[in-house]
Amino acid sequence: MKRVTLAHQLDFDGWRTAARSAVLAAVLPDQIVWRVGDEAADDLFATDEIADAPLPAVDQPAFTVSRAFVDLAKELILHRDPARFPLMYRLLWRLRSEPHLLADASDPDVHLAHTMTKSIHRDIHKMHAFVRFKEIEAPDGEAAFIAWFEPDHYIVEATGPFFMRRFTGMRWSILTPDGSAFWDKETLRFGPGAAKADVPDEDRLEEHWRTYYASIFNPARLKIDAMQKEMPKKYWKNLPEARMIEGLIRDAGSRMEDMILAEPTKRSKLAAAVAKQTPDAVVEPMTKPETLQEARAAAKSCRRCDLYGPATQVVFGEGPEDAEIMFVGEQPGDKEDLAGHPFVGPAGEMFNRALGEAGVDRSRVYVTNAVKHFKYEPRGKFRLHKKPDTGEIQACRWWLDLERSFLKPKLIVALGASAGQGLLGRAVRVNAERGTPMTMPDGAPVFLTVHPSYLLRLPDADAKAREYARFVDDLRAVRSVVYG
Ligand code: URA
Repeated sequence: MKRVTLAHQLDFDGWRTAARSAVLAAVLPDQIVWRVGDEAADDLFATDEIADAPLPAVDQPAFTVSRAFVDLAKELILHRDPARFPLMYRLLWRLRSEPHLLADASDPDVHLAHTMTKSIHRDIHKMHAFVRFKEIEAPDGEAAFIAWFEPDHYIVEATGPFFMRRFTGMRWSILTPDGSAFWDKETLRFGPGAAKADVPDEDRLEEHWRTYYASIFNPARLKIDAMQKEMPKKYWKNLPEARMIEGLIRDAGSRMEDMILAEPTKRSKLAAAVAKQTPDAVVEPMTKPETLQEARAAAKSCRRCDLYGPATQVVFGEGPEDAEIMFVGEQPGDKEDLAGHPFVGPAGEMFNRALGEAGVDRSRVYVTNAVKHFKYEPRGKFRLHKKPDTGEIQACRWWLDLERSFLKPKLIVALGASAGQGLLGRAVRVNAERGTPMTMPDGAPVFLTVHPSYLLRLPDADAKAREYARFVDDLRAVRSVVYG
């Protein structure tokens, strides 16, 4: 038996060096014991450290591994189970003779790796959603914020950039038993684990969170199972609003009665809102916004689907309220999520250029998205765009319908399939239906064309130029229909 001692739980470089040496020395997966730091040795039979064994030089790697494996291994190391180290090595070992192994979801090792990464993603999602900061007095008198959280896995470093982007303007610390993250408005740093006792008890923010939670709690939608799934009991102890949950559940009956007895217009609005709900939506604003401004403000606390959790902020539509054209994209991208405005990233630049060539002034049109939160998959430092699913598009349709009802545009332009689906409520095939006159169930005219990011993805320069010209032609047609 060989032994590998890693410096700490997230010592990926140490794992990689040892794993590479072990593969080159033909050490079988079941001949290695992996341990971390001064962990109690369960390796009585291990003879020597991999690093001590006479091994071939490792500075000239004799084999390469795919980017997909490296990304997977970097994620797996975040899992708390010590079995992740041997699993990573087993996968590495097998990939040399089974290069397509990772595509075989039925393989037990691959299946275990997927189960582990799913659990990590869920944990990251929960941490994004359930960290609650308390205000503390910093020695220099400036406001500072501190939070305590107990993640299932080693995810403090993986979640740090999210909190940095979301709370850029405040100094904060997030303490966990395994590690801590600190942001001083300039630099993100990580440190050792801490104790819950390091977080002060009393503060002004607790009341804020409780009020906020009470305001988004809708007794008409009381679904205890779904709520507990979303906010598992083990997180409750750290959440100020959790203290209200039992009271809210108990009071739900009488609050529902209050809502039903409310004046008739409110009641019918409530009925309409309830009727439009998707089966999975858990909470939503109690009354329908009366103006576009109210809708924009209410969307900030939207919980109609899960996408609010990992996203930085909601990205609502923008443009004059008397706009005659409403453009609908798919969902905000990475840049839009950080900036809080639609179509400001690379697709937005392409869109602006085409609008300009078609003679459409962007400042005169309203631009929004079928889905108002960025859906993505973390990949190392990057966030890869993920297509919203039918449930998410359907859940967000509530906001799109509201935007339409206030704007009453002459023409709605769907940019791509997700926008088409959000507007028409059915799957749309852009190639087949592009340019055909379409109407929504309430008679509103819809014009379907491609999404600007489709043009960005085309690899062939000729195809790109041709498709771009077609897109500009579509926008010209839109201009002449609306403005004459
Ligand atoms: N893509 C979209 O569909 N919308 C945006 O806002 C940005 C990119």
